[in-house]
Amino acid sequence: MSELRFEGVTVRYGRALTAVDGVDLTVPSGQVVGLVGESGSGKSTLARAAVGLAEPAGGQILLDSVPLHHRPGARRPLQMVFQDPYSSLDPRMTIGDSIAEAMPRDSSRPSRRDEVVRLLELVGLDADRVSAYPGALSGGQRQRVAIARALAGKPEVLIADEITSALDVSIQGTVLNLVRTLQRELRLSMLFISHNLAVVRYVSDIVAVMYLGRIVEVGPAHDVLGNPQHPYTKELLAAAPRRGSTSLPPPDEALVADAEPADPHYPPAGCRFHPRCPIGPLIRTDREHCLTLDPTAEADHRLHRAACHHAAGVLRAVGSNPPVLMQLKEDSQ
Ligand SMILES: Nc1ncnc2c1ncn2[C@@H]1O[C@H](COP(=O)(O)OP(=O)(O)O)[C@@H](O)[C@H]1O
Ligand SMILES: [Mg+2]
Repeated sequence: MSELRFEGVTVRYGRALTAVDGVDLTVPSGQVVGLVGESGSGKSTLARAAVGLAEPAGGQILLDSVPLHHRPGARRPLQMVFQDPYSSLDPRMTIGDSIAEAMPRDSSRPSRRDEVVRLLELVGLDADRVSAYPGALSGGQRQRVAIARALAGKPEVLIADEITSALDVSIQGTVLNLVRTLQRELRLSMLFISHNLAVVRYVSDIVAVMYLGRIVEVGPAHDVLGNPQHPYTKELLAAAPRRGSTSLPPPDEALVADAEPADPHYPPAGCRFHPRCPIGPLIRTDREHCLTLDPTAEADHRLHRAACHHAAGVLRAVGSNPPVLMQLKEDSQ
């Protein structure tokens, strides 16, 4: 088990676009952090930075307090499963070879074969699939192979980026269940990314909400979803079907916010959410400060580290360890 920590991570594409802007986020050992936010908010870019596919322009990423680029050894401690199981597997390689390729180099041939069979069974596929090609498999089966491939690297941290979004609604639930079961059995730390709050709610211990390159609210899933502080989190929650209303996660399409998507090339001044905010200066003329004051600066002093001037504050009780968080004020929203 390992802790993954992002400290002030910034990732840019060219000069004009800051896709991830000073993100602090911790995935505690053996826990699932669900990262949710609309398309373009920077979720995949943050994930790509963790696995070395994007170079941070600032900040650092640590595994058990050691910066990732300082970690020696062939074993790749972070593995990622991507959204599209049709492009993530080599069509010319058998399933077995594809999984074996991802194993640490030190294992012998016979033990590799045994390990491939073990991994196939672990993800709920028959061992005789070992010689099949990806073309013979359904999307859900391919995604199971992609998960087996990720596990073949013996990761300490698994990053799952929209892993059910490209799948048929009917099988999204079984793949989610599989990932949740594996995470618990293998005691993996996991960063689970989705634009769908219903999906994130289903698997996460901690929920982090991302908007325009920044984390705008983070905390234990139960607290964030039960007592959301940021108006954007409230918007996402209002769009997500209630817990228990359906046995399977709903189709992704149902949850797309109807607002204009924000353009990260031109992040608004002050609070980045202000042009869309239902409790902000567009509606409440006395809230001009939202146009100029960035709420990120004081986020640590608010409940769920909410980047909103009108979120409840917290007081750290003196001498308590761990600190007791107390709610200071409830803003009338
Ligand atoms: N390779 C890239 N080159 C340039 N811009 C990119 C690239 N990948 C993503 N972006 C842009 O960065 C922003 C964040 O994208 P992304 O991290 O994919 O968000 P999400 O996963 O939340 O949808 C978007 O504006 C997107 O268009
Ligand atoms: Mg993405």
